[in-house]
Amino acid sequence: MVTSSAPGKVYLFGEHAVVYGEPAVPCAIERRARITAERRGDDRLRVNATDLTLDGFTVEYDGDATGTPDVDVAEPLLEEGMGYVNEAIEQARDAADAPDAGFDVTIESSIPLGAGLGSSAAVVTAAIDAATRELGVELDAAEIADRAYHVEYEVQDGQASRADTFCSAMGGAVRVESDDCRRIDDVPNLPFVIGYDGGSGDTGALVAGVRDLREEYDFAADTVGAIGDIVRQGEQALKAGDLEELGELMDFNHGLLSALGVSSRTLDAMVWAAREGDALGAKLTGAGGGGCIVALDPDDGTETALRYTQGCESVFRAELDTEGVRVES
Ligand code: PMV
Repeated sequence: MVTSSAPGKVYLFGEHAVVYGEPAVPCAIERRARITAERRGDDRLRVNATDLTLDGFTVEYDGDATGTPDVDVAEPLLEEGMGYVNEAIEQARDAADAPDAGFDVTIESSIPLGAGLGSSAAVVTAAIDAATRELGVELDAAEIADRAYHVEYEVQDGQASRADTFCSAMGGAVRVESDDCRRIDDVPNLPFVIGYDGGSGDTGALVAGVRDLREEYDFAADTVGAIGDIVRQGEQALKAGDLEELGELMDFNHGLLSALGVSSRTLDAMVWAAREGDALGAKLTGAGGGGCIVALDPDDGTETALRYTQGCESVFRAELDTEGVRVES
């Protein structure tokens, strides 16, 4: 039996634009998914998930996931969740050359599902690590990142960048531009405050919406390009440790995401509350539509403002997590 964990992430800059080859800077945060993989005597896969911000569920099914399990969870969410685990186990079987290996898999996660904090990437990354180790094979973080990306690509019908999975596997702040993924060294302390509206967005639909706008209007394509410019400027600010400028650029990035139609009333309300609480800057993180915002604030103002904001269900601080995927036991 092996337990591995991997961190979630926030996007400091660049979600959506990264899908079209612009750079993005996601940062791993100290909220992890822990996956335990235990080899079974047969070739089946049994998944037990207790706290994915869903009611707990246990599903037993064979490798090709035929038949819908009878559980009290929205079916698309369940199917998607199972798809991630199923494909992650496929990757582990492939890496260890053990096509018939069966597993009992337990998922424990403190990362809200579908809320822009990279829950699926963390689950997939940790699952590949735990299952390959259980089969006696140790992959390096770069290979886990690559295999995890292929899982997301598969499950999300080709609508995935390498950003989430690379960040979760490597930890810290990373820069992703198409296939070029690297860690950013010497990052200053980033005082992240996260506001969560308790909801989630449909990543596929939101990505498709931006794609349509970009095809229809040159100014939408220019907006995507301008997000790329913000990211490049943000990298300089990050290198210089200039939190004021980082905040200003986050505000700008949120405005452009909003123009592309991926914000929501509650995300905007939380962003404005953070600004009124004297955050250095605030933006939605991830696909948008609902879920989380990230603000930069070394003081208490943003947390207090968000606590009194209608539509904000929870607020927490999240330190940058410099460690990526790791074995726990
Ligand atoms: O909401 P998340 O954490 O799945 O992030 C999606 C980020 C996008 O740029 C919209 C898509 C992608 O795969 O990069």
